[in-house]
Amino acid sequence: MLVSAKEMLQKAKAGQYAVGQFNINNLEWTKAILLTAQEMNAPVILGVSEGAGKYMGGYKTVVGMVNGLLEGLNITVPVALHLDHGSYEGALACVEAGFSSIMFDGSHYPIEENIEKTKELVALAEQKGLSLEAEVGAIGGEEDGVVGSGECADPMECKAIAELGVTMLAAGIGNIHGKYPENWPGLSFETLAAVQEQTGSMPLVLHGGTGIPADMIQKAISLGVSKINVNTECQLAFAAATRQYIEEGKDLQGKGFDPRKLLAPGVEAIKATVKEKMELFGCVNKA
Ligand code: 13P
Repeated sequence: MLVSAKEMLQKAKAGQYAVGQFNINNLEWTKAILLTAQEMNAPVILGVSEGAGKYMGGYKTVVGMVNGLLEGLNITVPVALHLDHGSYEGALACVEAGFSSIMFDGSHYPIEENIEKTKELVALAEQKGLSLEAEVGAIGGEEDGVVGSGECADPMECKAIAELGVTMLAAGIGNIHGKYPENWPGLSFETLAAVQEQTGSMPLVLHGGTGIPADMIQKAISLGVSKINVNTECQLAFAAATRQYIEEGKDLQGKGFDPRKLLAPGVEAIKATVKEKMELFGCVNKA
């Protein structure tokens, strides 16, 4: 059964580790992540962007697929199904469809409007027993057509949003979705420390997990980050493994064209990536 991300993140904050959010795109992605979480005995959050939800045939399809896999694969670790960077309307649609966790990304609105809309969704999430993530300070890079410049959040604005009763808070600290440019100055730990000081026990979320060096990840966790989002890295690993399979001509040997064979190396590559991240985040055996 899907669970809210509240308990797993409060435990992570108290225990100074982070839970991974891994974004899903299809059945292979979802299976690979769930099986790895079970093998690692780790709690996990499946992230679904609005674009990915549309790609998979709508939020109800996603809920049906994930619930079916939890049962069919005997997954017993805590799993949250989370809307990633949701619009207000997307958040409502996912609540309706049966997601267990929602992100409302109001970071592009003026802070008053972000507060107003987040407040409404806090009430809805509470009523339904779901977790809610809010965002202050846009995350850089492009994701599903949403382009952010990699701002550093204002700690007082973070405090105002945290006090609305959200479950977890994403604060921009110079992080970017996708690969980091050569001249990236790194995460702003000064901002992170100031945000943590203003928001106390609130679990903080680090987006753009792909390509952040291990020492920065560990420092971010020590400063209150309890949830780390990874998307691009699984995509790159899947693509590289699939490319290798085809370049080696394996799809032309025997029944190598069978999708169950063709996609298998990519699935294994996702599993390896997820495992490595869970070890780095410290959430192994925290189910
Ligand atoms: P990456 O694609 O950079 O790993 O970012 C993922 C993310 O933050 C999803 O919200």
